[in-house]
Amino acid sequence: MNLILLGPPGAGKGTQARRLSDKLKVPQISTGDLLRAARAEKTPLGQKAESYMVSGRLVPDDLVIAMIGERLKKEDCRAGYILDGFPRTLPQAEAFEKTSFKNSSKVGRVVNIQVERDEVVLRLSGRRQCGGCGENFHVSFHPPRKEGVCDRCGKGLIQRDDDREDVIRRRLDVYEKETQPLIAYYRGQGVLRDVRGTGSIEEIFGEVLRAVE
Ligand code: AP5
Repeated sequence: MNLILLGPPGAGKGTQARRLSDKLKVPQISTGDLLRAARAEKTPLGQKAESYMVSGRLVPDDLVIAMIGERLKKEDCRAGYILDGFPRTLPQAEAFEKTSFKNSSKVGRVVNIQVERDEVVLRLSGRRQCGGCGENFHVSFHPPRKEGVCDRCGKGLIQRDDDREDVIRRRLDVYEKETQPLIAYYRGQGVLRDVRGTGSIEEIFGEVLRAVE
């Protein structure tokens, strides 16, 4: 099954996508993670994406669509995948439906995780991310067992360069303008389920599982 996780920055898309990926045995594909990897490797895509990401704007559609197209051709996507952070604009959603990937790009279910702006600011300003496996932690809400060290793979935790308060607020504005219209788009197709994104990570995971079943 192909799943899309929608929601504002900090809604918990990555946190839930990782759990879903473990449970459903299909890959989590995060365009944010792919772009950060391209930046770390200083590829031409990474160099083009950098200024957009650091300032909280979206990377241009053509670059992101080409990148995700390449990723979805890989063998591990045959049985399905979980998209985390894509599509993020109407042109991306339309391109996704028109392109023929190995596994049909037909959308199975879209889970819309709902969280208020103030909660997002609290979450993202305290987020710490593993530089190795990408697992997310929070200094207060979801601390690692050992400070600064990933529970999952033992590598060091970092603070993302777009998790500064001014950039977080810009990302939220961009989300409201560019991405929120996708809620009506997918609701109109009858594939969208809303999930309240506040509460414990495990409770929300239970709701997400119910929404995809
Ligand atoms: P991306 O990496 O996709 O960032 P985002 O959408 O802004 O989402 P986040 O990763 O910030 O949040 P999340 O919802 O995954 O929450 P998380 O689980 O981490 O994109 C970054 C940038 O790349 C974009 O700004 C753009 O420039 C570019 N980009 C990416 N995709 C693109 C696209 N398709 N088109 C164009 N540009 C694109 O959780 C957040 C924190 O909250 C963590 O600390 C976590 O531990 C904590 N938390 C999670 N759940 C809970 C809970 N229930 N209670 C309390 N705390 C919780």
